[in-house]
Amino acid sequence: MPVVDYIPISVATLLPSEAVGLDLYQQERETNRLVLYRAAGYPLSFEDLERLRGRGVHQLFIRHDSREVYQKYLREVATRDDCQGVPFRARAGALTEVVRDVLQVAFAQQSLDQTVQAADELGSLAAEILTKDSFATNGLFRVLHHDYTTFTHSANVAFYCGVLASELGFDGEAIKQVTTGGLLHDLGKLEIAKELLCKGGRLDESEFRRIRLHPVIGFRKLAHREDMVEGQLMMAYQHHERLDGRGYPVGCVSSEIHPWAQLCSVVDVFEALTSHRPYRTPMPCSKAIMLQQRESGAAFNPEMLKCWKSIIQNSFVN
Ligand SMILES: [Fe+2]
Repeated sequence: MPVVDYIPISVATLLPSEAVGLDLYQQERETNRLVLYRAAGYPLSFEDLERLRGRGVHQLFIRHDSREVYQKYLREVATRDDCQGVPFRARAGALTEVVRDVLQVAFAQQSLDQTVQAADELGSLAAEILTKDSFATNGLFRVLHHDYTTFTHSANVAFYCGVLASELGFDGEAIKQVTTGGLLHDLGKLEIAKELLCKGGRLDESEFRRIRLHPVIGFRKLAHREDMVEGQLMMAYQHHERLDGRGYPVGCVSSEIHPWAQLCSVVDVFEALTSHRPYRTPMPCSKAIMLQQRESGAAFNPEMLKCWKSIIQNSFVN
């Protein structure tokens, strides 16, 4: 059975005692072959899911043609009004999958209206979940994906932005806007060749210059829109600026950098360090924070970094 016709899905998104409505496949360790784990009409019990996790199975597979059914299922899980019965892990996991899927399609179609609209809807949903539930103890970090694509990075950064904004005491509307801004902060990267973004090894001067244009490109694409607030535009434009003026694209200093861009910068770098890149392995969270700490006050806003550090330390240690 070729893996190529199947899509991996996260076990964290599955709920117990419900027929998912699609066949679930599991990959055999020795042969990498996919075998039927559970047929569509059968429920999954809490014990089944615990057993999978206990065996270190965090991924199952579905057939490619079941993708829409799965997306529908995810939306149902993520947006269900009665969230009492749905554990945070499943809600947040389902939402991150939806975010990735919607962003991937919107980015691929290069439709700005569609991308902004999707980001806005998803930002609201994410903010709602983040403000309602206690994220720190509920494993949000574990349900995020860590493969490298611009939309995965954007989805992770968006969640992190929402978490940090919430912990810093932003009100509900601001948390929503910051989360949406996080989804769009790297929009300008869509104009940059994938080969260049994923290139390992050293980049030459002209390649660096090209990549460093993405904040300007993103800002230009969004600047004329009436559905974006200033802070969100600044997140796209200034998320690579540093407090000491050694960032890009302008090299402005702390007082000139919008607070939301400073917030975005903290979580953007953390996400980049701790997720998988084609050219290096992910760094443990503790090490990433330690590295960022060295740049406190130089690159990063010290108060925001301190708050982020406590979120990470309270969430999990690795
Ligand atoms: Fe960026």
